[in-house]
Amino acid sequence: VATVAVPAPLVGRQSPFIDEDLEARIFRVHRDAFRSQAVFDRERSQIWNRCWLYLGHASELPNPGDYKVRKIGGRPLIFIRDVKGTIRCFYNSCPHRGTTVCRQEEGNARHLRCFYHAWTFDTEGHLVSLPSPDAYPSDSGFRERLGLRPVAGLEILHDFVFITFNEQAPPLAEYLGGAAKFFELVANMSEVGMRVLPGTQRYTARANWKLLVENATDGYHFSPSHITFLEYLKSTGFTTSDEVSSVEIHNNHVASVQAGHGGRIGLAWEPRFGEAERARTEANRARLVERFGEEYASYLADGFHTTYMFPNLLLFDIESISIRLLEPVAPNRTEVSAWALAPIDEPAETTGLRLKTLVSFIGPGGLATPDDLEAQEAIQRGIEATADDRRDGVDWNDISRGIDAELRGGPLRTIDEAGIRHFWRTWDSMVCGNDGFFDTPGSAGR
Ligand code: FES
Ligand SMILES: [Fe+2]
Repeated sequence: VATVAVPAPLVGRQSPFIDEDLEARIFRVHRDAFRSQAVFDRERSQIWNRCWLYLGHASELPNPGDYKVRKIGGRPLIFIRDVKGTIRCFYNSCPHRGTTVCRQEEGNARHLRCFYHAWTFDTEGHLVSLPSPDAYPSDSGFRERLGLRPVAGLEILHDFVFITFNEQAPPLAEYLGGAAKFFELVANMSEVGMRVLPGTQRYTARANWKLLVENATDGYHFSPSHITFLEYLKSTGFTTSDEVSSVEIHNNHVASVQAGHGGRIGLAWEPRFGEAERARTEANRARLVERFGEEYASYLADGFHTTYMFPNLLLFDIESISIRLLEPVAPNRTEVSAWALAPIDEPAETTGLRLKTLVSFIGPGGLATPDDLEAQEAIQRGIEATADDRRDGVDWNDISRGIDAELRGGPLRTIDEAGIRHFWRTWDSMVCGNDGFFDTPGSAGR
């Protein structure tokens, strides 16, 4: 069980949004944080324009010239594998007069052509042709200046592709810190690599993005909210427990780890996966032990890991694996895209079971996600009730559960709110600055 202490400078926050008084065992968040357009704008500049952000998985672009358009931090982007095989990310905005260059969701192309004046770019972003170029002086270097604009930074970790709009961002490894091990864990599930399965689950929550983050790191709601799912599990002869769960904090990121929590496709068998799957799982398991030894094989195969990479990625490595990308579009609206990840060499039957399990639990029509969405949207509706009520404590959310354990240095349990507090401290230090005011020293111009 993790006993990682929260970085000291973050604790004890007093800002317009966080009221933290550990002596009094108070930790509360002001509800304007979920409602305010000013906060939303501030998040764009202080969080989305500064941090590393998840973009996609390299397996989504298997062939040279494959591309997908994506929107991250409000910016339309082109996620592309160039004809030489390198993964790139450009702003989806013509350097000429600004038109979105790619207007299809995805495709394969040797060249990208802007429809407005037909400027044409190769997959490395060079401006390679344009109609009537003679009106531009050929010796002025304008072609060289007017290629597609790459984002400021792109790094790939175990095929997970991350970008940043911040030229001064630290290297990705430094940003992720200890959270990198969860990406490695997933990558190690296959010797030949992992792939995103075809199709995207896309839906919109009528809720602030931070409510989706809170929900994913909140084990407290599991039993009351997901009672239908729990009853179903029980009916399959399976019992679950929160006793062996812990929260890990790595830099800005929060992971919840549950050992021996339940079945995992291809890794840990349980009766509802069916007899045929049992032999396949055992064979796979033996191979993992061969590759990594008992201890790491068990860590990889038996544990549920839900990793939140601040700010826009949730990696659910649970019964099956789901990558969930959060894209805030308004204070009360968040677009979610989710993808299933599987070993490239997985037997088709197992992949079939994986998809079935995924859609039945954390898919948008599954037994869990609709409960979660209803909770998030009910909060967004509910917090309108107290807006502008200035009486003490009325317009605040309480996030103090387990604060005593946290003060003692752990253990941090998933059914407490320590992970959520860490998220809010991180958020507040960026949005309000470490001095607790609505201005971050040194952030001018970002
Ligand atoms: S705006 Fe793209 S070619 Fe003119
Ligand atoms: Fe949930």
